[in-house]
Amino acid sequence: MAIQATEQGWVLETHATGYALGLNQAGMLVHRYWGARLPSLSDYPEAADSLGWASFNGPGQVLREEYPGHGGVKYIDPCLKVTFADGVRDVVLRFAGAEVHKHELALHLRDEHYPLTLTLHYRVHPEHDLIERWVAATNHGAEPITIERIWSAQWHLPPGENYRMTHVTGRWLDEMHLRRETLLHGVKILESRRLTTSQQHNPWFALDSGSATEDHGEVWFGVLAWSGNWKLSAEVTDFLSTRVSMGINDWDFAWRLQAGETFTTPASLAGYTAAGFGAASRRLHDHIRAAVVPHPQQLRKVLYNSWEATGFEVNEQSQTALAEHAAAIGVELFVVDDGWFHGRNSDQAGLGDWWSDRRKFPNGLAPLARRVNELGMDFGLWVEPEMVNADSELYRAHPDWVIHFPTRARTEARNQLILNLARADVQEYLITKIDRLLSEHPIAFIKWDMNRNASEPGWPTAEGEQRELWVRYVQGLFHVWGTLQARHPQVVWQSCSGGGGRADLHILRLADQIWPSDNTEAAARLAIQEGFSQIFPASTMEAWVTDALEQQRSLAFRFHVSMCGSLGIGAHLGRWSPAQRKEAARWIKLYKAVRPIIQFGDLYRLRSAQAHPFSALQYVSKDQAEAVLFVFRTHLPDPITLPPLRLRGLDPAAQYTVDGCSGPRSGLAWMQAGLQIDLSDFESTLRRIRRVPHH
Ligand code: GLA
Repeated sequence: MAIQATEQGWVLETHATGYALGLNQAGMLVHRYWGARLPSLSDYPEAADSLGWASFNGPGQVLREEYPGHGGVKYIDPCLKVTFADGVRDVVLRFAGAEVHKHELALHLRDEHYPLTLTLHYRVHPEHDLIERWVAATNHGAEPITIERIWSAQWHLPPGENYRMTHVTGRWLDEMHLRRETLLHGVKILESRRLTTSQQHNPWFALDSGSATEDHGEVWFGVLAWSGNWKLSAEVTDFLSTRVSMGINDWDFAWRLQAGETFTTPASLAGYTAAGFGAASRRLHDHIRAAVVPHPQQLRKVLYNSWEATGFEVNEQSQTALAEHAAAIGVELFVVDDGWFHGRNSDQAGLGDWWSDRRKFPNGLAPLARRVNELGMDFGLWVEPEMVNADSELYRAHPDWVIHFPTRARTEARNQLILNLARADVQEYLITKIDRLLSEHPIAFIKWDMNRNASEPGWPTAEGEQRELWVRYVQGLFHVWGTLQARHPQVVWQSCSGGGGRADLHILRLADQIWPSDNTEAAARLAIQEGFSQIFPASTMEAWVTDALEQQRSLAFRFHVSMCGSLGIGAHLGRWSPAQRKEAARWIKLYKAVRPIIQFGDLYRLRSAQAHPFSALQYVSKDQAEAVLFVFRTHLPDPITLPPLRLRGLDPAAQYTVDGCSGPRSGLAWMQAGLQIDLSDFESTLRRIRRVPHH
């Protein structure tokens, strides 16, 4: 299991999958195979030859070039598009050598005439069945080369099928809806043009031949690890060859690659499984938990967040009162949301001035932080560093720091403008300000928000190509956040962008947690969480119990929904009755008991909440000793017979008990015969499942 060079090229193997590529007779680097791991290296097919048999059929339609540049008679959606200094816009890449390591492969390509080299990087993650790809382009000449597109990877599927593509779409308050559509001839594009990953689409795909289910069938899936504008192009050629390319969006993009410079793309990760969409999600979950997030081994704490309770009415008294209630019910981390900083009384002012508001906190944040710590909780804070209100000290001092075109209006959204994080002075300002906050207070957690998308994407003082902004901004964000992370490694960060606008495998290198949606109504949340779970593990999914539609949703229902992720509370605890707070304390205690299974275990989606008003999911510990079942019913007209739920992921031969069901029974029985759970509308249940120890 690793990377091997053979006469036919290279074979990349993971635990269960194989991926092969090689040079064909014409010297072109072509894809050979991606699917189940084959018994021997000689089993992998050879590199196909370059066919092109009529003036209207270039080889690109059939031939699966590993990383096609724009040139010749290919006509397909290429990965690379450049303009050389003399105006030539045709790339001819030739193989120039390989470096093979156990888990990494670098294939060097060189343009046959111009001083441009490309390195295609591969890394295998054997235990997660994932292959990671990225590309670096270097200009070895004296004149600049303009890059107009440089994608991270093109993933080739076995040809001859009409695949179905699963992806997610949404909007603010309604993220992550699963969509399934057949890919027909042509190009299907998913993208973000918003500067963030976006709530509208997410850089994730899953392709199957149309018959895969949660538990069965071949699925090819992948992501792009990038938090800025991205593009996914799924192309089916006239010869039914299907490829999915992913990378930085080339829309409004250009990059002047100066002499001696290298441009490195973000990574795309992809995998194959024969065990359905559920297995595809579990591969990503395992990978994210083990290899992406900053604090892989840490359990996420039960948090309280003040936003839905106190809004902008944040002050020492209101927060102390909430903190006392929170501590009493078992909360471990108290987060003060928006409204704590200089001049922040509404969304009209204050962003940019990251010091505490004197009126609300006469002695600064220290007394509150201390009180929170005394109550036995960690202290956390909300910031939105990338933004500025026109009504702020910062904007009055530096109106030129925002993204803008000098001759155009600066369109405000939520009364705010975006600081140009591509600028070094802006980066320095933010590092200094947030670093001071973190150094002067015992802050254990930061919620990093980003509440609008870009407009008038100008950068008047850019030295070169202004369209580099889209990428340099994200690199700047990474620099600022990464510097703060390195200086304060104990801090846990949360990524929020008006909900799930910045959820991806790039931001997860900085943030352990993501806020999936501003919609906290429990039934809506079930659907959003299910979409989110296609890609991201429960440990990263922050889920608060709030008062949204409280009259219609029992506390139990609301808790059950939030316990499916990293539990938080966002309700006004002062308005809850003592009985409600007592009940909440019981749920939190139970959550703490089962959270290792939820946060570190395997997720099985038994019945989809997006597809059925009666839905269920199950988390199973890695050793299969314990599991937790959640079942929900939203609205179903009675009379109705609810179907039995067949459990998953248990050891078939072991005996298990399920809370509230007769038993013990074998894992096989629970998985095959299932169990019956009857619920009324908007009722839910949580059942613990335990393996009976051997004697
Ligand atoms: C965004 C976030 C919310 C909250 C508000 C504060 O909408 O998604 O959770 O932090 O900003 O202004």
